[in-house]
Amino acid sequence: MSEKHFPKHVAIIMDGNGRWAKQKGKLRTFGHRAGVHSVRSSVSYCRKNGIEALTLFAFSSENWLRPAEEVKALMELFALVLGSEVKKLHKNDVQLRVIGDLSRFDPKLVEKIRKAEAHTKDNQSLVLNIAANYGGKWDIVNAAKNAMRTLVEEGKSADDLDEALFCSNLTMADLPEVDLLIRTGGESRISNFLLWHTAYAEFYFTQTLWPDFNEDAFEQAIVDFNKRQRRFGMTGEQVEEGVT
Ligand code: IPE
Ligand code: IPE
Ligand code: MG
Repeated sequence: MSEKHFPKHVAIIMDGNGRWAKQKGKLRTFGHRAGVHSVRSSVSYCRKNGIEALTLFAFSSENWLRPAEEVKALMELFALVLGSEVKKLHKNDVQLRVIGDLSRFDPKLVEKIRKAEAHTKDNQSLVLNIAANYGGKWDIVNAAKNAMRTLVEEGKSADDLDEALFCSNLTMADLPEVDLLIRTGGESRISNFLLWHTAYAEFYFTQTLWPDFNEDAFEQAIVDFNKRQRRFGMTGEQVEEGVT
C-alpha cells in the first residue's frame, strides 16, 4: 500500500458522552468529564502526525436547550479544563483558539479564553479550535454582516461581494478547509457544525462513543480517509492522471 496521507484539517463532532455515562449507570456529566481524555488523545494524535488544524465541537448554539444543570456543568468543565490544559498545550507548541459567539458566556470565562489564546498565539505545530456556542448558521450570518460592513465603508454595492471577501470574514479564514469531518456517537448528521468549511470534506461516522475515542480510533478514521478518492468535481480518471 502507498504511504498514508494525512489530512491538513480534521474537525470532530464529539458526540455520545451522555449515552456512555448512562451505559455505566452514571450521570451525563460523568460522560462529559470522561470525554476530556479523548480530547487529549486527539490532540496528541494530530501532533504526532503533523496534522495542521483540529477543530472540536464542544458546545453548539442549540445546546443551551439542555437542562440548566447540564449547561452549568459543561461551562464549569470548560473553565476547569482551560485552567488545567493550557500550560501543557503551550509546551506542546499548540495554538488554542475558541470559535463561536462568546457574547452569552460569563465574562470571567471569556477573559480566561482570551488569555489562553494570547498565551499560545505564536505556537506553530497545531492549531486547536474549540467550537463553543458555535453554529454554522451563526458563522455564515456573522461573515455576511462583516463583509457588508466592509462594502458600506468602502462605498461599494452588494454586487461587489465575492467569495474571497465573504470567506475572509468566516471563522478560521486563515486555515485550510476541513478535509475530514469525524462524528462519534453513531448519528449521521451535521447538527449545525461547520457548514461552509466542510463543503468538500470527507465525512466519517463511527458508532464509538466520544469517551471511548482514542488514538487507535483516530487512526482508523485516517485509514478510511486514505481509501477515499477526492475528486473535487473532476472525473476519477483525471484525478489518477494528476490533472489539477
Ligand atoms: C456530546 O455528547 C457533548 C455535548 C453536546 C456537549 P452528548 O451529551 O450529546 O451525548 P449523547 O448524544 O446524549 O449521548
Ligand atoms: C452536537 O451534538 C454538538 C456537540 C457535539 C457539541 P448534539 O448531541 O447536541 O447533537 P444533536 O442535537 O443530537 O443533533
Ligand atoms: Mg448528543
